Amino acid sequence: MVLSVICLGLLLSLSLCRGQDFSYEGSQGPSHWGKEYHTCVGKHQSPINIEEHNVKNVSLPPLRLIGIDNPCRSYMTNNGHTVMLKTNESKAAMLTGGPLKDRVYVFEQLHFHWGENDYEGSEDLINNHSFPMEMHAVFYKEDYKSMNEALKHDDGLAILAYLYEISPQPNSIYESIIKVLPDIEVVGKGKALEQSLLLGDILVPDIASMQDYFTYNGSLTTPPCLEVATWIDFKDHQQLSHDQLAAFRDLRNPEGNKLTHNFRPVQPLEDRVVYQNIPIEFSPSNNASYDHHFVGHSDNGTARPSVKMPILFVALGALLAIFLFAM
Ligand SMILES: *[C@@H]1O[C@H](CO)[C@@H](O)[C@H](O)[C@H]1NC(C)=O
Ligand SMILES: *[C@@H]1O[C@H](CO)[C@@H](O)[C@H](O)[C@H]1NC(C)=O
Ligand SMILES: *[C@@H]1O[C@H](CO)[C@@H](O)[C@H](O)[C@H]1NC(C)=O
Ligand SMILES: *[C@@H]1O[C@H](CO)[C@@H](O)[C@H](O)[C@H]1NC(C)=O
Ligand SMILES: *[C@@H]1O[C@H](CO)[C@@H](O)[C@H](O)[C@H]1NC(C)=O
Ligand SMILES: *[C@@H]1O[C@H](CO)[C@@H](O)[C@H](O)[C@H]1NC(C)=O
Ligand SMILES: [Zn+2]
Repeated sequence: MVLSVICLGLLLSLSLCRGQDFSYEGSQGPSHWGKEYHTCVGKHQSPINIEEHNVKNVSLPPLRLIGIDNPCRSYMTNNGHTVMLKTNESKAAMLTGGPLKDRVYVFEQLHFHWGENDYEGSEDLINNHSFPMEMHAVFYKEDYKSMNEALKHDDGLAILAYLYEISPQPNSIYESIIKVLPDIEVVGKGKALEQSLLLGDILVPDIASMQDYFTYNGSLTTPPCLEVATWIDFKDHQQLSHDQLAAFRDLRNPEGNKLTHNFRPVQPLEDRVVYQNIPIEFSPSNNASYDHHFVGHSDNGTARPSVKMPILFVALGALLAIFLFAM
């Protein structure tokens, strides 16, 4: 147990715990993780298959990302299981709201999962459908001060999950990330991105769909698979070209072979419920639910209040007028 907690370093740094490592195939593949890491056989494991007809609709407070609009220096490393991006800023980005309610989470890193071809690669599935890539942005609870401490608590982490699909055009937002991949093919290599990165470009590609997501409680998808994560899976899909995606498959694993795939198969849902957020519509005359300045990723509220409610009121008013007139 102590060892497996130490092994978590694998997520953060490299080459601790050599020899007791894990892999995505063979005798150290996902179906064997449970032997070395007992916590990988829990009842609330990730990833899962999300059946859209089997989710529970809820309206949660707005999800908020704070401090993602400042350009930040960042660097990427190949840890043998994925490529991970961290920022060098002392003022980290924060996540709160949604299923996290008032709890505040601090950005730690983001990384990717992919597959051997363009037809699989995501970890969570939607209606049994696999996507060619999935990105995880990992945040730890601010109260716990560090990632290592947060991993000891069942509300320790919040993870934003983004699903990708293939587009004919490359996605320019990812160019700076993909450009460094050839330089970090070997495990343990790291390199700074040439240009400052706006985390907001990656984490909130489209503010209009930011409140459309599924959420459930689960685990890390790599050993030791600790059940400490609130997952938030965005319904909107991101685009990457085939070539952009293929660049990830050239990275090397600890054996020096190509890391062609690094997704864990889905795990049983067991007694869990997957929630689907239905964003609350609001208007100036209805502020009971929440303060609309909290919507979105900018502190001064780039959110666009919904126009549906006012239109509804105008329509109702018109109907009433016609009705009164007719009397
Ligand atoms: C949940 O919300 C979705 C989207 O608004 C809707 O299509 C679906 O019918 C709702 N499900 C239930 C059980 O109300
Ligand atoms: C960013 O942080 C990494 C790891 O701590 C360090 O190696 C690198 O020199 C830093 N880069 C800049 C530009 O500060
Ligand atoms: C997903 O696969 C399971 C098992 O094969 C099946 O029961 C379920 O109906 C499928 N879901 C959808 C949405 O096709
Ligand atoms: C998910 O986990 C959090 C933190 O432990 C807890 O507060 C919340 O009630 C859980 N949600 C569900 C739906 O089980
Ligand atoms: C809006 O919120 C304020 C403070 O939260 C409250 O005093 C006020 O009555 C609310 N107005 C409406 C129309 O609900
Ligand atoms: C929000 O802030 C940005 C930059 O700080 C500014 O350019 C923009 O005009 C502001 N928008 C509003 C609606 O205040
Ligand atoms: Zn992941």
